[in-house]
Amino acid sequence: MSQNYSNLLTEEGKEFIEELSTALKNRDSIEPIVEEHGITEFQGGSGGREILPLPDSLVKDDSLGEPDSESYFVVKVSGEPLSHNYREIKVWEKACELGWEHESLFAPVHAWDEEEYKWLIMRRVTPISPHRDDIAYLLSGQEFLYDPDAPAQLEERLNELGWTVEDVEMNVGVLDDGVCMMDYGGVDRNNNSIDIPDWMGSEN
Ligand SMILES: Nc1ncnc2c1ncn2[C@@H]1O[C@H](COP(=O)(O)OP(=O)(O)OP(=O)(O)O)[C@@H](O)[C@H]1O
Ligand SMILES: [Mg+2]
Repeated sequence: MSQNYSNLLTEEGKEFIEELSTALKNRDSIEPIVEEHGITEFQGGSGGREILPLPDSLVKDDSLGEPDSESYFVVKVSGEPLSHNYREIKVWEKACELGWEHESLFAPVHAWDEEEYKWLIMRRVTPISPHRDDIAYLLSGQEFLYDPDAPAQLEERLNELGWTVEDVEMNVGVLDDGVCMMDYGGVDRNNNSIDIPDWMGSEN
């Protein structure tokens, strides 16, 4: 079963996400908040959300796995309720319901805003790029792996298990030696699609 570990964040961690979301809502720069925590945003996030490493210091110790030089989680945050986040959370819940075979193909979502779907916290993975000298990753300094075949292979596996994928290409990563989707707002079930609630609107 998927579980929303709403206690994963420290008080300061909750404030961090709240401040980010408020700045995005007001269309203010998030740079001062990002700088204060000494982190660098990831490139991308074109779907109305920003993707950032979540500093380990903002997560309660018992929610962290093996210490690593990089952050353990990433946060995907928006100023408004976001259908891309909603879909990612629903896909995660569905995959957990269907079992490990499915669950292992998605980077785990550990906590999320279950009222408004403005944010979610996901395990950090090492992205895989089909381009050897991927400019986006080289510019951001984010470590990545090169594998031109991984996206198509993962798509095939997902299709076999009844999932459809819109944009597998740049949205694949590695976690504990397994390849998984790290952005799955474009994933759906082929026989039982995920409906976005009306109150959330369709543009975002
Ligand atoms: N779980 C993760 N672990 C590590 N990096 C991640 C993770 N999720 C996202 N990223 C980084 O953030 C970037 C953008 O994330 P994501 O693809 O989820 O955003 P998006 O809102 O769907 O925008 P885009 O249109 O760029 O796909 C990724 O290319 C990757 O570099
Ligand atoms: Mg993406």
